[in-house]
Amino acid sequence: MASLKTSHLDIAYEDRLIVQDLNISIPPGMITALVGANGSGKSTILKTMARILQPKNGNVLLDGRSIHKQSTREVAKQLAILPQNPTAPEGLTVYELISYGRFPHQKGFGGLKAEDRKVIDWAIEATRMQEFSDRALEHLSGGQRQRAWIAMALAQETDILFLDEPTTFLDMAHQLEVLQLLEELNAESGRTIVMVVHDLNHAARYAHHMIAIKQGEAVAQGKPEEVVTSEVLREVFGIEADIVTDPRSGVPLCLPYELYRAATEGKVRSQKQKDGTIKVASNL
Ligand SMILES: Nc1ncnc2c1ncn2[C@@H]1O[C@H](COP(=O)(O)OP(=O)(O)O)[C@@H](O)[C@H]1O
Ligand SMILES: [Mg+2]
Repeated sequence: MASLKTSHLDIAYEDRLIVQDLNISIPPGMITALVGANGSGKSTILKTMARILQPKNGNVLLDGRSIHKQSTREVAKQLAILPQNPTAPEGLTVYELISYGRFPHQKGFGGLKAEDRKVIDWAIEATRMQEFSDRALEHLSGGQRQRAWIAMALAQETDILFLDEPTTFLDMAHQLEVLQLLEELNAESGRTIVMVVHDLNHAARYAHHMIAIKQGEAVAQGKPEEVVTSEVLREVFGIEADIVTDPRSGVPLCLPYELYRAATEGKVRSQKQKDGTIKVASNL
């Protein structure tokens, strides 16, 4: 199974350094959740690991070889990415979108082969999109559209799947549907999945491994119980949270209750009063 890690990765937009000396490993055959505040660099890291962005320094190593020294097609056979806000040309049908996933496997011209169609059908079935395959993407609900994009990534038949916020903007049932689908894919075929999720409780429940990002830096990596802790949440999200154990799954559950503020003159914590005013207490 393909191993994937970053080595001393620096990533910048123009001259603005977003990620500095990032060293993370993605455990093969597992689900990894990347968590962190908005703007912390999660998408930037994911795109660099998927070879969409070129790092300023350092390497992304796939089986020990730098992906930035491999061809797009070579990488696309091993690694698929669902970006945060994917866009498609107007009128594109679900089937057509999914067939794009077969491009890295096609040799020369001549369109889809029987083998490609078999894989596309499997991807449609796996994401339960049978009844929508001829629909234009813009005529689908948010959850259906998200499943169509996941199907496209699946049709690429890669060992590694990256998904950037696959559950954002979906209602609770559709969030669970997407997460369960990813869990199934991981369990049945041992695919390595790396996903960005905002809901820490979803991350803890569905991921085997978590990486918490703050300002482009991995401040905690490990099992959910090692990452979903009060200390890490204070550091990464600036929140005070209680951590309890989920009685059903045994994983940590996070109950956020207030913002944590570290003021320049020392640690300061704010507390909302019953009358709605915010009281700030120092030395807490
Ligand atoms: N194309 C871009 N050009 C310049 N800056 C960018 C670009 N994309 C993201 N950034 C900046 O990089 C930082 C990290 O962004 P991003 O990786 O999208 O964070 P996240 O996915 O964690 O919300 C932010 O400060 C953002 O403004
Ligand atoms: Mg993002």
